Amino acid sequence: MTPRRLDAEGLELGGGLEILLAAALEGLAPGARLEVVSPSRGTALELHGWARRAGHATVGELLPDGGPYAVVVERGPNARVLGDPIGPRGSPPPLRAGGEFHTGDVRRGEPAPSTADARQGFVPVGAYPELGAPAFDWALNDRDPLWADDVAELAEQATRAQWDASRDVPWAAARELPDFMERAVAQVMTFIAQNEYAALYVPAAFLPHVNPAYAEVVLWLAGHVHDEARHIEVFTKRALIGGYAARRWPRPSCR
Ligand SMILES: [Fe+2]
Repeated sequence: MTPRRLDAEGLELGGGLEILLAAALEGLAPGARLEVVSPSRGTALELHGWARRAGHATVGELLPDGGPYAVVVERGPNARVLGDPIGPRGSPPPLRAGGEFHTGDVRRGEPAPSTADARQGFVPVGAYPELGAPAFDWALNDRDPLWADDVAELAEQATRAQWDASRDVPWAAARELPDFMERAVAQVMTFIAQNEYAALYVPAAFLPHVNPAYAEVVLWLAGHVHDEARHIEVFTKRALIGGYAARRWPRPSCR
């Protein structure tokens, strides 16, 4: 039987090749063979140990001077042991106009779970959890106190509205106010920047407690934190642009 062939090209074990190998071997019947070709002699030599550890066997190798090198891996009898078997490939999720893949479409109309496992690790939406993955201790594991029907759309809007406070503000136009007015504006901007810190720290404090089963909430909070960071940045910059700033040097002498 002619083995299937997988060309590793520049991939190495520890650098992603093991993921490709696992996916390729999982699609084969036990006893079927996969010829792995690599330009790296080191990778070819390491394949024997990798195959044994993954429950497969190597049944041949070709190590010509100068390469490319080939190792034939025979699929072992073990099924995937760390997680449920991966199901068949389904239809792709829908795209919006212009080919956009919206956050609101990642669940394909399925509701988020009403309660999520408080000890689950980082499990992205639609992923198969692995047994034995590091356990977490999420505090917010119920949908109803966290959820809003439009939270995915809010996350979408937060992403769409990102802007650059260094580039997108005509800073040069803000420099010419008379002294007394600039001083007042700098004071108001300082007050607002202080408020923006509160607006950033509150959602940021919730973020690490939200179970990732509610990914849309995590993304929305993260977008909100990013927004508030821009607000802190822009109001701080506006307070400074007219030239008023506390002078740290020379330090006032201590008596
Ligand atoms: Fe804000």
